[in-house]
Amino acid sequence: MSVKNYNPFARLLHWLMAVIVASMICAGFYMANLDDEHPMKWDIYIIHMAFGFTVLCLIPIRLLWYLTTERPDFVSMPGAQRVVAKATHLLLYALLFMMPISGLTMALAGGSEVWVFGAFTIDALAVKDEQLAELGRDFHHLCAWIIAATVLLHVSAALRHHFVKKDATLLKMLGRVRSNRLITR
Ligand code: HEM
Ligand code: HEM
Repeated sequence: MSVKNYNPFARLLHWLMAVIVASMICAGFYMANLDDEHPMKWDIYIIHMAFGFTVLCLIPIRLLWYLTTERPDFVSMPGAQRVVAKATHLLLYALLFMMPISGLTMALAGGSEVWVFGAFTIDALAVKDEQLAELGRDFHHLCAWIIAATVLLHVSAALRHHFVKKDATLLKMLGRVRSNRLITR
């Protein structure tokens, strides 16, 4: 019989990264649209880059955990919906790699160092590579819209399961499923 809830470490990583990533998306769009002279702009950039690097460190641990520990089954739903749910999760995982990698490429190739909360600093490339920086920027911007839309879809689906279908999808991620019947609460 499969487990009822996501295990505590999977839940911790999910919610920790959900808060970081949601804030990064909002801060990213906000800072990119600020005037260059805005007093906060570069502070937000520095913090955005530090948290982005944190996501890059956490995501391999999360993926490894996802692949090696048991997860609860999806609640009962039509085959097509199950495929969409699975594909959304895989896409989110891919984007959580692509966002920080493209961000780092843009920053380091463009001549910015990356400060990591005072613990250490990643130096920029010795010689600027504008073409590589441009490639990183284009990819980061494209992925930014895709991750924003995917997260929106993912959160809407989670809330729909909880409030409309009233099944145990969200409860599994909160560690609150007590019965083996996942179909209804
Ligand atoms: C999960 C990780 C990340 C997320 C969700 C994220 C999200 C975003 C978003 C939504 C934008 C605005 C894009 C737009 O205006 O089209 C942005 C811009 C930016 N991000 Fe990230 N980012 C992440 C990681 C990083 C990392 C690791 C770095 C660098 C080390 C970075 C550097 C930047 C920079 C420099 C910009 C401004 C680009 C510009 O002004 O043209 N990001 N990010
Ligand atoms: C904002 C960034 C978020 C990201 C990147 C994200 C990513 C993911 C990923 C990759 C999974 C697959 C399971 C796993 O890896 O542990 C997952 C599962 C899940 N997420 Fe999120 N999530 C986010 C936010 C949220 C929010 C805000 C909610 C609730 C409103 C939520 C509810 C769920 C639920 C209920 C599951 C389990 C789905 C199932 O197994 O049927 N997520 N999430």
